Amino acid sequence: MTDNVPAAVVVLAAGEGKRMKSELAKVLHNICGRSLLEHVLVAAAPVGAKETLVVVGHLRDQVIHHLHDSDQEAATVVQEQQNGTGHATRIALDAAGAIDEGTVVVLPGDVPLITTATLQSLLTRHNETNAAATLLTSELDDPTGYGRVVRTADGHVAAIVEERDATDAVRQLREVGTSIYAFDIGKLRAALSRVTTDNAQGEEYLTDVIGLLVGDGEVVSAMSASATETLGVNDRAQLALVRRTMRDRIVAHWMSEGVTIIDPQTTWMGVRVKIAADATIHQNTQLHGATTIEKFANVGPDCTLRNTYVGEGATVISSHCVSAEIGEDAKVGPFAYLRPGTKLGRGAKAGAFTELKNATVGEDSKVPHLSYVGDAEIGERVNIGAATVFVNYDGTEKHMTKVGDDARIGSDTMLVAPVSVGDGAYTAAGSVITEDVPPGAMGVGRARQRNVEGWVQKRRPGSPSARAARKAVEESGSAATMDETSPVDPHDEAGE
Ligand code: UD1
Ligand code: CA
Repeated sequence: MTDNVPAAVVVLAAGEGKRMKSELAKVLHNICGRSLLEHVLVAAAPVGAKETLVVVGHLRDQVIHHLHDSDQEAATVVQEQQNGTGHATRIALDAAGAIDEGTVVVLPGDVPLITTATLQSLLTRHNETNAAATLLTSELDDPTGYGRVVRTADGHVAAIVEERDATDAVRQLREVGTSIYAFDIGKLRAALSRVTTDNAQGEEYLTDVIGLLVGDGEVVSAMSASATETLGVNDRAQLALVRRTMRDRIVAHWMSEGVTIIDPQTTWMGVRVKIAADATIHQNTQLHGATTIEKFANVGPDCTLRNTYVGEGATVISSHCVSAEIGEDAKVGPFAYLRPGTKLGRGAKAGAFTELKNATVGEDSKVPHLSYVGDAEIGERVNIGAATVFVNYDGTEKHMTKVGDDARIGSDTMLVAPVSVGDGAYTAAGSVITEDVPPGAMGVGRARQRNVEGWVQKRRPGSPSARAARKAVEESGSAATMDETSPVDPHDEAGE
């Protein structure tokens, strides 16, 4: 092959991942919106291999289903028993029997930080040196557990020796194999057929191929990469580490695109998030899924947004938003919960302690405080008074409420759906609205207030309230309400 395009990519993902102690296949653990395996496939895709094969084994059904649901194009090859990395590669090459020349890239499914650029450099080195194999290696401060790269006195790669098979001298080496390689496919096939299980783990080691090729006088090249980029995830601590690093990359990318990120260390975001230049993301904010943020928007501090759109100039503070659409210059929070189907129009507001679901709030309309708005269509320039509830659920079904343009919903109104409040209509504070309110009408649905004069003096004599009342009456010079014997409606004492 004269160009850099490999014939195949083989991803090894059949291993058990014991140290994860998980019922989920190791490569399916998620960081920043993609599984470990998807990250590897996404990095490998641009190298343009005609075929990508994923070797599956342990919890294979999960991995197969996951790949089926994923956007990544890859075929799976089943390794019934995990007899080692060499065995896994051999099975993949058998499945790709039709490919008889060119380069194959082999890499593990648990190295999510590997980049396309590094894979491309590896292929360039491989082709330029006309190598049978090119290893990606890494220098580790603590190489414990890894295969050591043994070199000859003149610096050529001689072999990779697994920790368990290594002498003390070899264990001192800090250059390790990363399990990422480019091979000439024909030479790899031939070498794999000669790999034995004569080692401490009784497995077919892919690493043994290196010594065999060197022994045949083939060119084996090596290229070094950062320990971070080639880190394989074996346990939850490493999972957290790669997630943090991936986060750092994503955040750095958006800063380079002109986004202000006030505190990168407490800002988390997934790979599908999109942020326009001149948006500001404040401390302790998480952006998940296909969240999009437009310019001059301010999100955070303390926000979690998933699949949410934030329009130009909008503000979202200390809020949790899922599948919501926040219009231009709209204001959300602090302490708002926007659930799926919430659409705030331009300049609209969902203020403190509000919950909205499947609700359209028109331009410049406000839900400022302590309200639940479910299954609603609210027009423009509407004010929803504090503690209003859109009573959308009758215990069986959900119903819609409509509120027309320029309507004023009094505080503590219960809008019992299905119901509508017409354009320019009002509701009285504390109303339970069960019937439609026509345009321009005032809907009143509450009992009329009655004052039982002197009740406190009679029923709570000597109490602080009685003293306060007496003082107020004395100061106002009125004696009328001082009459402690004034008649009291017995019904008002009910419920004491
Ligand atoms: C392997 C290398 C080691 C290297 C290290 C880097 C071998 C023998 N050793 O060791 O030199 O320093 O990676 O992380 O190759 N897998 C299969 N089928 C199997 C066994 C493994 O698909 O039968 C897959 C695993 O799912 C994993 C990858 O191959 O994705 C590497 O296997 P693992 O067991 O993690 O190898 P290490 O012991 O870490
Ligand atoms: Ca490993």
